[in-house]
Amino acid sequence: MAGRRMAACAVLVAVVACAALPATTTANKISVNWAPNTNYSGWEKQHAPFYKGDWLVFYYTAGQADVIQVDETGYNKCDATNAISNYSKGRTYAFELNETKTYYFICSYGYCFGGMRLAIKTEKLPPPSSPSSGKDKSAAAAAFASSHAALFYAAATVLAALLRMV
Ligand SMILES: *[C@@H]1O[C@H](CO)[C@@H](O)[C@H](O)[C@H]1NC(C)=O
Ligand SMILES: *[C@@H]1O[C@H](CO)[C@@H](O)[C@H](O)[C@H]1NC(C)=O
Repeated sequence: MAGRRMAACAVLVAVVACAALPATTTANKISVNWAPNTNYSGWEKQHAPFYKGDWLVFYYTAGQADVIQVDETGYNKCDATNAISNYSKGRTYAFELNETKTYYFICSYGYCFGGMRLAIKTEKLPPPSSPSSGKDKSAAAAAFASSHAALFYAAATVLAALLRMV
């Protein structure tokens, strides 16, 4: 009968491990309407938070803009000389924010001086049990509870049935 007890434990472990996964595992895609004569100084705050693994998708008019990733100095000076990456083909550019740090983007066509530059700070995904953002706390908790309550109930039923057989 030890085998059944083991099986019951395995089910419980699997369910608990599953429930511990973040409620949202799909990366966000954040669109940037990347246009000349636009001041992006408030953009980051409006669209925050950004998480490691999110994507920025730049939309621009072909030939009117490029997307140059620079360091903080390049951002402050609108200087693309030491570009980290450089993209100007087509009309869209998807960039993965795959590290927890501040990313800097400018347009090198002269519009940077008018505000066409972005500094994006990424953070780690918060654990679902303690979201770092207060305003999302109850919503996240409710979503987590509702998506996992059924799972817990099912697991408890299976577990009870298995233990009865032991
Ligand atoms: C980006 O790359 C293209 C082609 O490699 C080059 O002509 C252009 O000068 C580069 N722009 C910047 C800002 O580095
Ligand atoms: C962009 O907007 C910010 C905040 O309103 C302002 O401080 C800054 O001077 C503006 N930049 C330009 C180039 O107009």
